[in-house]
Amino acid sequence: MPCRLPNCWRDIASVGKADPAPARLRPNKGWQTHVMPSPLPEPALLLQKSGNTTMDHFHYRDNDLFCEEVRVSELAAQYGTPVWIYSKRTLLHHLNQIQQAFKEVDPVICYSVKANSNLGILKVMNDAGSSFDVVSGGELFRVKQAGADTSRVVFAGVGKTDAEIRYALENNVLMFNVESEAELDAIASVAESMHKVGPVALRLNPDIDAKTHAKTTTGKKGNKFGMDIERAEQLAEKVLSDKRLSLKGIHMHLGSPILTTEPYAAAVVKAAEVVARFRARGHDTRWINLGGGFGINYRQQEALPASAYAAVIVPTVLAAGCRLALEPGRFIVGNSGILVSQVIFTKREGGKLFVIQDAAMNDLVRPAMYDAFHRIWPVTPKIPAPQNYEAEIEGCEPTDVVGPVCESGDYLAKGRYLPPMSRGDLVCTFSAGAYGMAMSSNYNSRPRACEVLVDGSSHRLIRRRESYEDLVAHEIL
Ligand code: LLP
Repeated sequence: MPCRLPNCWRDIASVGKADPAPARLRPNKGWQTHVMPSPLPEPALLLQKSGNTTMDHFHYRDNDLFCEEVRVSELAAQYGTPVWIYSKRTLLHHLNQIQQAFKEVDPVICYSVKANSNLGILKVMNDAGSSFDVVSGGELFRVKQAGADTSRVVFAGVGKTDAEIRYALENNVLMFNVESEAELDAIASVAESMHKVGPVALRLNPDIDAKTHAKTTTGKKGNKFGMDIERAEQLAEKVLSDKRLSLKGIHMHLGSPILTTEPYAAAVVKAAEVVARFRARGHDTRWINLGGGFGINYRQQEALPASAYAAVIVPTVLAAGCRLALEPGRFIVGNSGILVSQVIFTKREGGKLFVIQDAAMNDLVRPAMYDAFHRIWPVTPKIPAPQNYEAEIEGCEPTDVVGPVCESGDYLAKGRYLPPMSRGDLVCTFSAGAYGMAMSSNYNSRPRACEVLVDGSSHRLIRRRESYEDLVAHEIL
């Protein structure tokens, strides 16, 4: 029974109706949550009810999944599957949460481009007043394409090449987050050749355990990132005596995602102590950059609001008399995106039920790579979406949701209680906006999926689906 939706490779610049009201930060209907009664309650009511300020705009109305005002099944029919669908309101909501929570210190919010680097997303961030954290020349190129003011961009990463340093200096970035003495020397020498001064922040490794996955912990001794405080103090002396460099501040990034405030509380105190010592030695150290890492709701409502992080960070930054930079990625874009796929086959083998659908580890590698949990549910389910996706749900059966890639590690979920599904059904993987498409690949020569941005009742393609021709476009026979 052929039942696949048409795949759509056309480059559709803009489809759907234009939204008459400006989307930015207006009060909205359809505010969170994944199980939404119809008609929709007012946002204020929901806020009171949930007591949680980490919201998104993906919700079921009568067992039909919507992104803002648009039916997800209609987007799948129009754009094909697999498809990444992003909600502009959710992006702006989370950016605004951070801006508001930290407003007392007038922070520079540097959206971390690595989380999702699509130009359409970067443009939304730029238009809403965000700056950017980049880790490569390619990311700097992207933020320029999106119209960013590069003098507010921070450049991080343990392995910047001379060409990347030159490119960043040409674009007058705010500062380099420097990770080693060798990098400091490289910045000094490239800056000298350009008759410029290299603005640097020393990245500290504060040896704080942020209790994240081993592969995403960065602030513990033994990780490749940053330097210990003693070395930072030695390098600060070096910067002071080097006219080619200026010490702007200090940087830290503890890991990702972090679901408690304690690591930030400890880190900001260390940062303030180091700033005080640098100043005592004659440095004009003005910036504390605490990186990113704020956690999101992958399972239920486990994430903290931005205000919880602000409560432990802001007082110390104020007392230190510093400017604050932050580099949030996941907090802004994570719950702003879903991955929608379609069931190709189901099969029972070895006592297990497998749902084989057309998204795979090449699309979303997080489950395979970090054992990450993503909520999964049909787009038009016969059983309403649960509050707890980890529970044994009545009418559901433990299911392995797998893709077509030839690896046993190719799964989106294992043993997950899901309603019966059959060929052609649409499946939604939630909280996929961060480190989803950004980490995708062409493994098994699978063209990358397309990306769609929803704004109210309008939607547009922000990356077209790759074709077979795209797969071989850079190869030479
Ligand atoms: N700043 C620095 C220096 C970072 O290394 C990172 C993330 C961020 C900011 C942004 O962190 P966020 O706010 O997004 O948590 N691929 C992994 C996450 C790797 C994070 C790498 N660094 C995942 O899918 O969970």
